[in-house]
Amino acid sequence: MKRIVLFASGSGSNVENIVRYFQDNPKVMVAGVLTNKSDAKVLDRCDHLNINGLFFNRHAFSKTDCVLDILKTMRPDLIVLAGFLWKIPKKFVAAFPNKIINIHPALLPKYGGKGMYGMHVHQAVKNNEETETGITIHYVNEHYDEGGAIFQAKTGVSQKDTPESIAAKVHDLEYKHFPKTIEKLLFES
Ligand code: GAR
Repeated sequence: MKRIVLFASGSGSNVENIVRYFQDNPKVMVAGVLTNKSDAKVLDRCDHLNINGLFFNRHAFSKTDCVLDILKTMRPDLIVLAGFLWKIPKKFVAAFPNKIINIHPALLPKYGGKGMYGMHVHQAVKNNEETETGITIHYVNEHYDEGGAIFQAKTGVSQKDTPESIAAKVHDLEYKHFPKTIEKLLFES
């Protein structure tokens, strides 16, 4: 049985999509979902999906080993950041080498780094009149959006697109490719 732990900060539509993708697979279980926002919608989704959802604060995450210790007890084969907005401390990367992945809603190295998340990314893509954008799934290191790329997919952007319609196209790519990429990583090692 392969075990996944998910981190999310907001809505958690990717979390829900990943949980649903694996729910009938006896070889994969979502061991839990961790969030840094006590009122994040992802916690409601966890309730409905019957998945353990756990909230932690900044102090527990960065200044103590509390979250790291909990994570270790969950024995993850893969840690998946699905819309998680805090930088991962070095000690997590050291404890789980090549086992933490992130999804970014753009074609890295474009539109990455601090402050580049969610709608900020899509607004920047619109402002710069890009003709394409997409998703990047990558390994996590201690710098924002800089670990090795695992997978990218593209979608076209037209002048008629708004940041909201770009976000919808990017979410579609995420729903289509993120669970499959996770599955591949779990079973290719
Ligand atoms: C996703 O589009 C994800 O790529 C992005 O946040 C969104 C979360 O949506 N992540 C980042 O911007 C990380 N820098 P969701 O909560 O509905 O899954």
